[in-house]
Amino acid sequence: MRVAHAAAELAYSPYSRIKVGAALVAHDGTVYSGCNVENASYGLTICAERNAIFRAVAAGERRFKAVAIATDRPGALFPCGACRQVLAEFAPELPVFTQGRSSEIARSSLAELLPKAFLPKDLES
Ligand code: THU
Repeated sequence: MRVAHAAAELAYSPYSRIKVGAALVAHDGTVYSGCNVENASYGLTICAERNAIFRAVAAGERRFKAVAIATDRPGALFPCGACRQVLAEFAPELPVFTQGRSSEIARSSLAELLPKAFLPKDLES
């Protein structure tokens, strides 16, 4: 969670002005961070969670133990639908911890946040 809050500080979000940070813990304990990065062409924005997992996969990591999400808003936020789907590709039961600037840490999991997910196994014949 500490790494997620630090990542949120690096957010580039001049349009929404919300800062989001994610810290994805790999199976060996390595932590991959990400922040939201917006664009003048709004739809090209990337969320903190996908930024973190893409960094991890690009570093050769595919097994994850948990994700922490932090925001500068008062309350905790849960990952958007796109990020749930991308995280589920690698860790459909991933524990999710999330905290706002002045909230408690809330706990959930991808199994709870994205039930009946479409997964790689669904592409098998
Ligand atoms: N955002 C995230 O980084 N993660 C989420 O789970 C929800 C939304 C960012 C994207 C955009 O920069 C801003 O929040 C407003 O949608």
